[in-house]
Amino acid sequence: MRRFIPILLALWLGLPGLVVAQAGLWDRQVDSILSLMTLTEKIGQMNLLTSDWVQTGPSLRPSYLADIQAGRVGAIFNAHTADYTCELQRLAVEETRLGIPLLFGFDVVHGYKTIFPMPIGEAASWDLAAIEGAARISTREAAAAGLHWTFAPMVDIARDPRWGRMAEGAGEDTWYGNEVARARVRGIQGQDLADPQTLLACVKHYAAYGAAQAGRDYHTTDLSEQTLREVYLPPFQAAIEAGAATIMTAFNDLNGIPATGNRFLLDQILRQEWGFDGFVVTDYSSIPEMIQHGIVGDTAAAAALALDAGVDMDMQASAYYYHLARLVAEGKIDEGQIDAAVRRILRAKYALGLFDDPYRYCQPNQEAAVWLSDAHRAAARDIARKSLVLLRNQGATLPLRSPDRILLTGPLADSQRDMLGSWSGAGEAESCVTLKTGLETRFGAEKVRFVPGCGIEDGDDQGIAAAVRAARRAEVIVAAVGESAAMSGEAASRSELDLPGVQLELLQALKATGKPLVVVVFSGRALALPWLAEQADALVMAWFPGTEGGHALAEVLSGDYGPSGRLPVTVPRSVGQVPIFYNPKATGRPMDPQQKYTSKYLDVPNTPLFPFGYGLTYGEMVYEGLQAEPSVFDPSQTVTVSVTVTNRGPQAGTETVQLYVRDLVGSLTRPVRELKGFQQVTLAPGESRVVTFALRAEDLAFLRRDGTYGAEPGHFDLFIGPHAESAEHVRVKLVP
Ligand code: GLC
Repeated sequence: MRRFIPILLALWLGLPGLVVAQAGLWDRQVDSILSLMTLTEKIGQMNLLTSDWVQTGPSLRPSYLADIQAGRVGAIFNAHTADYTCELQRLAVEETRLGIPLLFGFDVVHGYKTIFPMPIGEAASWDLAAIEGAARISTREAAAAGLHWTFAPMVDIARDPRWGRMAEGAGEDTWYGNEVARARVRGIQGQDLADPQTLLACVKHYAAYGAAQAGRDYHTTDLSEQTLREVYLPPFQAAIEAGAATIMTAFNDLNGIPATGNRFLLDQILRQEWGFDGFVVTDYSSIPEMIQHGIVGDTAAAAALALDAGVDMDMQASAYYYHLARLVAEGKIDEGQIDAAVRRILRAKYALGLFDDPYRYCQPNQEAAVWLSDAHRAAARDIARKSLVLLRNQGATLPLRSPDRILLTGPLADSQRDMLGSWSGAGEAESCVTLKTGLETRFGAEKVRFVPGCGIEDGDDQGIAAAVRAARRAEVIVAAVGESAAMSGEAASRSELDLPGVQLELLQALKATGKPLVVVVFSGRALALPWLAEQADALVMAWFPGTEGGHALAEVLSGDYGPSGRLPVTVPRSVGQVPIFYNPKATGRPMDPQQKYTSKYLDVPNTPLFPFGYGLTYGEMVYEGLQAEPSVFDPSQTVTVSVTVTNRGPQAGTETVQLYVRDLVGSLTRPVRELKGFQQVTLAPGESRVVTFALRAEDLAFLRRDGTYGAEPGHFDLFIGPHAESAEHVRVKLVP
């Protein structure tokens, strides 16, 4: 392969060594490159194509090579490993006219080789440091694989568990979603993108994708600007304030204009209001999908609409590739718009240091050193145990006390693939620890009898009898049930929220044996499990716990680790309650069971099966002495809200103490409560701790009726407790 210093590198090295702000230097260099680029080369930078990577290794489509060599590709996704990305990078740097380096992107959503719990499971840990750490390790492993860019964090607020992509985010709450978004961006981008152990983050899917009608993926979202700004946009803003370098448009139609062509979103809010100066990439082929949306008649018009709205890079549709040059020639778009987009893309490549050294991420020897290292596995195990939510524990069934005969059953008990969840990067099932392995390792294989009982989705109940027979000879039953990894994530909406197949029949037959029944549920969404909530002796929500999930579960079931997970989403009684979340508006007829004409159902309570923030420990946490001082305050003052938490149980436990507020009267109706803080405290048996929060007027701010953002004087109820339905509260008054 010819080796020569590309024109731009020679040009760049000759630039006067003025010491100017790095950004200013980049701007000068970017402008210098831009001045050399042909229109085709500029449009090439706006073209993102998927690799032909197949499970058996890379395959390079001939046209693919030609595209790269002609400078018609600016970035590639789904190409990974240092060798493969280096091979492609050399094509771009050494065989194109200008040698502009490629960006390599991939969905590293909750791990690259070491797979962490699905993001909703990470969120259930309520441990922001652990969440940031998981993102950092995932980034380290991905960078070793030659990647520069991850399509994460996904920050879509999800209030409808029928929507399978609930699995990929941080749940239903905006305030907590903001915190998790920041933590994940910090983990991905670190302190300096020039560090080859960092990636460009790509916050997605902008915006309100989780508000899909009927929970059906890709469906229309139609919501007020108030709700858009109060509920769905803040985590994107939080991610951008944390420095997210790129953002991805969503598939959905938002209030009549698809997000990919929505100038209000991409320019008014993103650029004008938030000052975002990174680049915007579409989701997979979402530009031509605007034809199906019915907002344009052909791909050329879709390309023009997307560019006008503010889209810089076209993922996989080649709409920009085939149409922008002609649109310029026809005067339908201006080359200056293309220059602006290319500038933002080239600046990102500068930020990564790719113009200094296009091969800086090509370090094959790094892969073996970091992928699935002991330290990474330990971190995955740590957040996995923290992600597990104990929902029920009748008669202290858990922790298991050195049982001699455990019957392990259920279709998720020994499925390595399902431990990974969806969007599992380059994770390999064979590296996963299942619940079966975890229990055998912890208690001894001779004490664990595994009888599958049934499958996940099939209706074959022939295996139930064998499980029941085995249960009769066991001291305790551990049943691993739920969904397959493929039943959540993208294009995986469900109209029901029950256990698929004949799993409930299996559990009911096991329950009839009278043996203690411990149920572990694996899923990427909240499932409506009323029978389990009543009949399981113990119930643990495991989400998809990742590479080390089995060991993490064994630690919690054995009591080696006391469960500390808390729900980041509301668990409904039935799909009929959906969308259900902890903080709706009060309505003019709040539910009153004694009054017919109030807001309720005839056939189910309004309350969920388990509320947002809920989770049990092996301790018995008691909250006393809630107080707030001063009870009357002005915007210059801080209210100190405190409570004493005591562990009255026999075991140590980590409690997530949550602070909620309710604005009793507003210029707009307000949610019945809003999470405004949490603290995790670990208490030994008998130990008490005073937990204190500082609350200021700005914590009570919202988008007021006049369109300004701020707090309004009046009364507020402050709640501190273990979940969103905690009733104990104090009232304070904000005065002007
Ligand atoms: C998918 C997803 C998006 C992902 C992208 C690239 O369709 O919607 O989350 O990052 O394509 O794989």
